[in-house]
Amino acid sequence: MYSETMKLSNGVDIPLLALGTWLIPDERVEAAVKTALDIGYRHIDSAQAYGNERGVGEAVRTSGIPREEIFVTSKVLAEIKDYDEAKKSVDRSLRVSGLDYFDLMLIHCPQPWDEFNSSPDRYIEGNRAVWRALTEAYRDGKIRAIGVSNFAAVDIDNLWPAAEVKPMVNQVSIAVGNTPRALIDFCAEKGIVMEAYCPLGHGSAIKNPKIVPFAEKYGVTVAQLCVKYCIQLGMPALPKTENPDHMKNNADLAFTISDEDMKALEAL
Ligand SMILES: NC(=O)c1ccc[n+]([C@@H]2O[C@H](COP(=O)([O-])OP(=O)(O)OC[C@H]3O[C@@H](n4cnc5c(N)ncnc54)[C@H](OP(=O)(O)O)[C@@H]3O)[C@@H](O)[C@H]2O)c1
Repeated sequence: MYSETMKLSNGVDIPLLALGTWLIPDERVEAAVKTALDIGYRHIDSAQAYGNERGVGEAVRTSGIPREEIFVTSKVLAEIKDYDEAKKSVDRSLRVSGLDYFDLMLIHCPQPWDEFNSSPDRYIEGNRAVWRALTEAYRDGKIRAIGVSNFAAVDIDNLWPAAEVKPMVNQVSIAVGNTPRALIDFCAEKGIVMEAYCPLGHGSAIKNPKIVPFAEKYGVTVAQLCVKYCIQLGMPALPKTENPDHMKNNADLAFTISDEDMKALEAL
């Protein structure tokens, strides 16, 4: 079981391997998270939009594992761009999950989903208002770290001067064949840890004939190679699965991709 961690800018440790839970409905997520915790996962990625914070919280609370050993993330709905709504939504997530705190809470998207990268409005004031609510919750001890998701450099620049506490994380889509190098370098300069969502390309990477030879070279599955690729880029990876065999496979990462192959995979 891969159990390495890295530090966020505020000193909080974040496990480099997480279980993604998008599209795992609330009635099934408790079992999936329990299985993952039994296997050894200690980082679970949820969101208000996934409608499964209740089951995630239930699994964490009843796991028998000390709460401080599990890292739980949620995200404020992309459509919330208002201080009061954001503040209420954090309290609602805590209530629904039954957790005393989240380890990480993100702004899910800089724009509402139906406008994402299609509208010129980057919701500068709205994101600043949501950030203020997250900052207060962070200061009140309801959240141990705060960040953003799907933010381009311009969105981070827009937020930065108004942010008394700077974002610690930017969770974006990163996988073999989808490596946003400029954004990764930009975030690194600002001390923001990137997180890789869709590290398996939402499942499409598994059969990609260009990736298969790399996996064969290391004697691992494509899924293992893709998860380790993101981690070796220096960021947590969040593969989603409900299948216990896949959970075990994705956590079996005792191999190292060479620098040369990392470059080749980045260039795919
Ligand atoms: N912040 C955001 O806007 C955002 C957006 C998207 C995703 N996310 C987060 O990132 C997580 C991961 O992204 P994702 O769910 O889109 O896709 P993903 O993790 O890239 O891929 C998931 C797919 O891969 C399959 N899979 C997983 N492990 C496998 C293995 N070892 N062998 C073969 N197939 C395997 C899964 O099927 P099985 O279930 O059958 O194993 C599933 O179909 C999400 O669950 C969510 O937590 C965040």
